[in-house]
Amino acid sequence: MKQFKSLTLILFSFFFICSFSAELFSQENKFIGVKVCSACHKGEKGKMIYDKWLKTKHAEAYKTLENEKSKEIAKKKGLKKPPTESEECLKCHATGYFEKDQRLASNKKEDGITCEACHGPGSSYKTGHGKDKKDEGIKKGLVLGKGDEKICKICHNPESPTFAGFNYKKDWEKV
Ligand code: HEC
Ligand code: HEC
Ligand code: HEC
Ligand code: HEC
Repeated sequence: MKQFKSLTLILFSFFFICSFSAELFSQENKFIGVKVCSACHKGEKGKMIYDKWLKTKHAEAYKTLENEKSKEIAKKKGLKKPPTESEECLKCHATGYFEKDQRLASNKKEDGITCEACHGPGSSYKTGHGKDKKDEGIKKGLVLGKGDEKICKICHNPESPTFAGFNYKKDWEKV
């Protein structure tokens, strides 16, 4: 009986830890960069998804850190490094900066908020997802996040120095 109890406890903790860390993204997969995704998701054949993303503010997020407004914010905050090199800014203006050891060299900060910022690090699901492989993709860490504003709120929250509110429905239409 006692053994049974501790086994239950172990199992319970295991599932608790798993569900906690798996809440948004896989903790083991690596961020591989937008070039890998664009290889298949560009142009008519790729439903213009990459092409559309390029025109969103997300693709400009890193560039924003080079402007005067960013330098001002950084100065006020007393950052020692320029915004383009400060983790304090990169974590929301580039991809994979919440998880230091999950970035591959092909993941460029200059590309800003890429596909993987919302769909999760892609090293594992880059092959084996979509259409008839839906379940495989999800198992490998692809996050679909249909109507899920939790993903947006990783960055769209009051920790942002310029935060002025977030409305999922309205904002989703813009991206
Ligand atoms: C080898 C080609 C290939 C690569 C590389 C690739 N994809 Fe896909 N992806 C596809 C195909 C094919 C589909 C299914 C057709 C579609 O929805 O356009 C798909 C579907 C998807 C879907 C929708 C899945 C669903 O179940 O509805 C998402 C999200 C996605 N891809 C994201 C990504 C991201 C993010 C990357 C980069 C990390 C990536 N893909 C890289 C080929 C690829
Ligand atoms: C990893 C961080 C991150 C995630 C996740 C994220 N965003 Fe953003 N988003 C940003 C940053 C940074 C900007 C500002 C880019 C700039 O102007 O340089 C931005 C800008 C935007 C803008 C343009 C805002 C404006 O005032 O013009 C919209 C709309 C938007 N995001 C919607 C969304 C939605 C919807 C989601 C979730 C599906 C989402 N974002 C997820 C970081 C993120
Ligand atoms: C918690 C995530 C987060 C952090 C940290 C963050 N940003 Fe942002 N930033 C955003 C988002 C999201 C936007 C889009 C507009 C908004 O909601 O604030 C944005 C927009 C901006 C803009 C454009 C605002 C405009 O409307 O012109 C500038 C400039 C900016 N950020 C600079 C910085 C600098 C500099 C840092 C580091 C000191 C920083 N951000 C840290 C998330 C963040
Ligand atoms: C700001 C967050 C965000 C970014 C950045 C983003 N996506 Fe998505 N994507 C989503 C969400 C959320 C959905 C589910 C949309 C819905 O409600 O149908 C989605 C849906 C998709 C789908 C399936 C639906 C369709 O239109 O075929 C594909 C494929 C896809 N994304 C690929 C990509 C690729 C490739 C990139 C990078 C070029 C990318 N996404 C960038 C959040 C994002």
